[in-house]
Amino acid sequence: MSLLHSAVIPQVRTMIEKTLFGTLLDGREVYQYTLKNTAGSSVKIINYGAIVTSIMVPDRNDKLENVVLNYDSLQGYVNDRCYFGVIAGRYGNRIGKGQFHLNGHQYQLSINDGKNHLHGGISGFSKKLWNGKIIGDAGEPSLELTYISPDKEEGYPGTVTLTVTYTLTKKNELRIDYKGTTDQTTILNPTHHSYFNLSGSCKNTILDHVLSIEADAITMVDQGLISTGAYYKVQNTPLDFRTPIAIGLRINEQDQQLLLGNGYDHNWVLKNYDGKVRKVAEVYEQRSGRHLSVFTDQPGLQFYSGNFLKGTVRGNDGFVYENRTGLCLEAQCPPDSPNRPEFPSVVLKANDTYKQTTIYQFLTK
Ligand code: GLA
Repeated sequence: MSLLHSAVIPQVRTMIEKTLFGTLLDGREVYQYTLKNTAGSSVKIINYGAIVTSIMVPDRNDKLENVVLNYDSLQGYVNDRCYFGVIAGRYGNRIGKGQFHLNGHQYQLSINDGKNHLHGGISGFSKKLWNGKIIGDAGEPSLELTYISPDKEEGYPGTVTLTVTYTLTKKNELRIDYKGTTDQTTILNPTHHSYFNLSGSCKNTILDHVLSIEADAITMVDQGLISTGAYYKVQNTPLDFRTPIAIGLRINEQDQQLLLGNGYDHNWVLKNYDGKVRKVAEVYEQRSGRHLSVFTDQPGLQFYSGNFLKGTVRGNDGFVYENRTGLCLEAQCPPDSPNRPEFPSVVLKANDTYKQTTIYQFLTK
């Protein structure tokens, strides 16, 4: 009689681990949540700033490496001015002079970027402690983070409740679902601000990463990187990423928009905007074989090539981030949209719900 062995099915445990990450000056504790999926990938998130501190995904030889810029301590994130891994808000990106009109009122927001308001102001969502809740680990762990922003915070009207749910799917996607409500008409345009470096080592720049973006135009900017209201067609310019091309190939060309951004720091007007999630951008790093696809339901994508990194920021393991060692792909409505009626609206009324879904999918090729 032959002995029948039951098939051995490898059991990779899926789970969310919660550990103390640090303590803020006022004594509040910050936790780090590690989401692991059955494919062996993991994502770490802290409830300070709803920040993604690590994304470990395989290269083509199944070697797991972290593909986002980070700090090794809470202090790094408290001092950070680069917005590493954060949820930026209430308004991701810039509002000219921090001013806008809404319902007959003129609002003045805090100014923190030259003359302008950037990423929610001096102490935006990226500097707040969010409430963390583990909401599932059945193969696809999810972490729900909620922040209640009081009326007049950074100058914005209305009390806003924003919930951001991070899910690590079985397909190595980091899925981000946003849900926002307000008790008074306001504006809301949050975005995610991870700096990706698919090579797995931040010693390498992102200049050899091959990028494509589904867009025929960008929203044109002035010296302060504020939208002029005009669209700038990418055809025959170094901002044309309609077919995949290495980022570094044209980054130093004498294009007026590129010079203003000191590299790429612009908002691409995404094709096929109808409120549904579609693929909008892809990035490929040849040596590791890592490939990132970005899906979103948003009308715009800010591609920022890490131009402000200048070898002064000390990250994980004491590592110093040199110029253009990370790239951001931030799904959002275009910059300064509260002052640009021709752009998609960022107005949120009481009883309405703000929603956004953005997905970063990691594969190898
Ligand atoms: C965004 C902006 C950049 C810069 C970074 C943070 O991506 O568009 O200009 O401010 O955030 O350093």
